[in-house]
Amino acid sequence: MELSWKPNRKNKVPIYLQIKEYIIEKIKYGEWPVGTVLPSQRKLAQMVGVNRSTVVQAYEELMSEGLIEGVEGKETKVINTTWNIFAKDAKITDWNYYVKNSLFEPNKVFIQKINKAEFNPNIIRLGTGELSPHLLPVTQMKEIVSSLQIDPTHLRYEEPKGSIQLRMALSEHIQAFGIKASPSNILIVSGGLQAFQLIANGLLRPQSKILVESPSYLFSLNLFQSLQMTLIDVPLDKMTEQMSIIKKMKEQHNASMLYTIPTFHNPTSFSYSEEQRKQIVSLCQSIQLPLIEDDVYRELWIDEPPPRALKSFDYAGNILYVGSASKIISPGLRIGWVVGPDYVIDRLADLKMQTDYGTSSISQAILHQWLEQKHWYTDHVHKVRNELRKRRDFMVGCLQQYFSELASWTKPTGSFYIWLRLNQPISPTLLFERLLERNILIHPGAIYQEKGGVHLRLSYSYESKENMEFALRELATIIREKT
Ligand SMILES: Cc1ncc(COP(=O)(O)O)c(C=O)c1O
Repeated sequence: MELSWKPNRKNKVPIYLQIKEYIIEKIKYGEWPVGTVLPSQRKLAQMVGVNRSTVVQAYEELMSEGLIEGVEGKETKVINTTWNIFAKDAKITDWNYYVKNSLFEPNKVFIQKINKAEFNPNIIRLGTGELSPHLLPVTQMKEIVSSLQIDPTHLRYEEPKGSIQLRMALSEHIQAFGIKASPSNILIVSGGLQAFQLIANGLLRPQSKILVESPSYLFSLNLFQSLQMTLIDVPLDKMTEQMSIIKKMKEQHNASMLYTIPTFHNPTSFSYSEEQRKQIVSLCQSIQLPLIEDDVYRELWIDEPPPRALKSFDYAGNILYVGSASKIISPGLRIGWVVGPDYVIDRLADLKMQTDYGTSSISQAILHQWLEQKHWYTDHVHKVRNELRKRRDFMVGCLQQYFSELASWTKPTGSFYIWLRLNQPISPTLLFERLLERNILIHPGAIYQEKGGVHLRLSYSYESKENMEFALRELATIIREKT
């Protein structure tokens, strides 16, 4: 539960009454219907910045008026609406029932907590998967936005596959990755994430099995599972040793697709060699296993350019290629793209029209401008790479200093992440909570694989060097205490 409200200390009304009135308003207008679980007294006191005794007083009055109920040590809940007190036989909607019994799974608890904590202004984000605000191209973006000759197209719905200008520009852009795709084979989506949603809804059936490298970013989402599909782990190290494991697992599970992040994999930053890429493509083709190639980090190489995209070796139309502007220009634009055969792109575009009637036309026009202004784009990407290199080197230096006896890691050659392997397992929940108490936010490995107790995903893309070092030192201290 989120509260953006604080009591007014200058107001003559006592604070406990202000809290009581605030809760009554929430109940009165149905924002907190019957069944809503209120924060514990301690939590609410923290949230609104008062003593616990003040909240106790407010809750006691609400209880005596029959609006809420709370038993010592248990949840405090709304049990009555304000009008229901007067209209005793009125019926009340049980929204809890709807929420709990709906189709879509909630996020993993770690992800829910991360999504909330990220917006605490004092938090240090040690695992975040986005560029630091200092690396976002604010100045160029201002110029691009002000140079946009706004006309009605920017304010209208776009065509089903997205802006033709943007698709033409992307068709040219991805040629540099070895991919040949006509604009009609590209669909603009609202971030790479929507591509997975459309693929799941538009191409797969309930009970489908999807092979996924383990660990993987995909395990941090519940979107396939919510559609009654199962993600099957293919251990990444086994895959790199012996690609034939894909065939074995496809047969064993009757799998429908393989999802892979072949370039600067999230969370390990691993990239397949060119040889391995050719093997995956030809193997999947020979066993008729379609592939989703998630390539959102490709341009963020630090040491040397990665091998060509898997899609560039695909002459059979077996690969759905997913890209995004999120990791390079702006996640807030919410723009991604899918490249695939005609039939698939038409199907996904039809579904997209039913889902949101197209990605923001203005965002599409902005990205189009970025791709048109090639020198701006290249200068920006160049700057980001240089910065990421410095940050990566800094974080690796800190790890050498504070973690040489506690953990192991591989120095990444691109993107944002270091997959830290602790020498001793430690409860991810305990570690997460202990650090959160110190305003440090980590991404436990358990988000990305089932048995993630010995890993953490660190990121050097977001925090300042001072914050990185401070947080890593704290992390090392807690690990020492707990192992
Ligand atoms: C591997 C990978 N794919 C896709 C995405 C989704 O990005 P977006 O929806 O912002 O394009 C992310 C975001 O973290 C990611 O790490």
